[in-house]
Amino acid sequence: MAAEPTPAKKTGVDPSPPAPGSTPIPTASPNAFASPVFRPGLEGVPATHSSICDIDGLRGLLTYRGYPLEQLANQSSFLETTYLLIWGELPTIFQLRDFEQEVQMHRRVSFRIRDMMKCFPASGHPMDALQASAASLGLFYSRRALNDPQYVTEAVVRLIAKIPTMVAAFQLIRKGQDPIQPRDDLSYAANFLYMLTEREPDPLAARILDACLILHAEHSLNASTFSARVTASTLTDPYAVVASAVGTLAGPLHGGANEDVLDMLDQIGSEDQVEPWLDRAIASKQKIMGFGHREYKVKDPRAVILQRLAEDLFNRFGHDQMYDVARRLEAVAVDRLGPKGIYPNVDFYSGLVYRKLGIPRDLFTPIFAIARVAGWLAHWREQLGANRIYRPSQIYTGSSPRDWQPLEARAPIGAGAA
Ligand code: ACO
Repeated sequence: MAAEPTPAKKTGVDPSPPAPGSTPIPTASPNAFASPVFRPGLEGVPATHSSICDIDGLRGLLTYRGYPLEQLANQSSFLETTYLLIWGELPTIFQLRDFEQEVQMHRRVSFRIRDMMKCFPASGHPMDALQASAASLGLFYSRRALNDPQYVTEAVVRLIAKIPTMVAAFQLIRKGQDPIQPRDDLSYAANFLYMLTEREPDPLAARILDACLILHAEHSLNASTFSARVTASTLTDPYAVVASAVGTLAGPLHGGANEDVLDMLDQIGSEDQVEPWLDRAIASKQKIMGFGHREYKVKDPRAVILQRLAEDLFNRFGHDQMYDVARRLEAVAVDRLGPKGIYPNVDFYSGLVYRKLGIPRDLFTPIFAIARVAGWLAHWREQLGANRIYRPSQIYTGSSPRDWQPLEARAPIGAGAA
């Protein structure tokens, strides 16, 4: 395997630790490759070129391959949007039919994967189960032929098709039931709800879930997509790419926030408690879950659409009191935090929608993952098209070189030189 180039080698400095007694390497040696400005969280630092998605965070606009998200959410389907994201153009009627049929044919997962999932602890988080199951696909489809378009297409179809089946399977397995087989006569979203609840869903519920998947399908270089691209840049297989992205999405500052929003609303309890709760939260510098976004300085356009979908659901299936609490919290929090550019993000209303669809709270993030697989795979393909392994630099802040000491000569940690 080729050695990884490091700035130290290029500047002629040997990066290996010095032998005891040798001349120490100067710690503050100038690094010709380091960025002159360190930006925590890489804020504002471009890490790739991409033609997949564009965000205008000041005007609250989001496009996939140039198409406004609003239009896609209203008129497209998740599989059509997935095709658009991954292959770059909207499919023709024949291309869409073929893609839908391929995905439908690959929805089933091997009994070995189902058996493996039966060994997972029922108390484990479904995102951990999904990460492990997604990675396990690499064992079953171990051929790696990244330059073969057929291999790429098959991997895309498999991941889009099987991830929902695995999420639904874990849900039934942890309840002590056997997973049920997908139904070929149901659409992508309807089949997922069917596999989850064992009931054929209401068409409006399926349509709303499909729109939610469109809204979550892609969002430029967010943390999980960056993870996917870093993993892709090593030329590993697409199952490892998706598994690493699932792990990144799981955190509460990213996809996991939608669970926390419902906890927060439950904790507030009622509309009249919103203001005192928010006062305490702001005073103690607590973050308001479902608020704030690195890219948006106005309300996230996905939150605008999700709020409308939530209202459609409530009109049809009955009101949720927590929606009133959420709206009151939005009004008061925007008043206080809006001047800092902090507004509701995609996670603020998504939990209320999923709860009304009868989805358990800890499946909210796995559903986000089902959708985001489309974006991760679009970035995987794009990364392979102009690949260079990601290898940023760092600013070293550790000890200057020093000699190893035998055990008996070491002072206890924290002991002063009294
Ligand atoms: N509530 C209150 N204050 C906030 C919030 C919030 N939700 N978000 C940011 N701020 C404040 C910070 O306290 C900070 O204030 P200061 O400058 O006075 O110290 C300032 O805004 C900047 O905050 P950062 O955390 O540095 O912003 P960053 O861009 O790094 O973080 C993030 C973005 C992680 C989304 C953040 O807003 C947050 O933690 N929000 C809550 C969690 C959440 O909803 N995550 C989902 C994001 S959407 C997604 O991933 C799908």
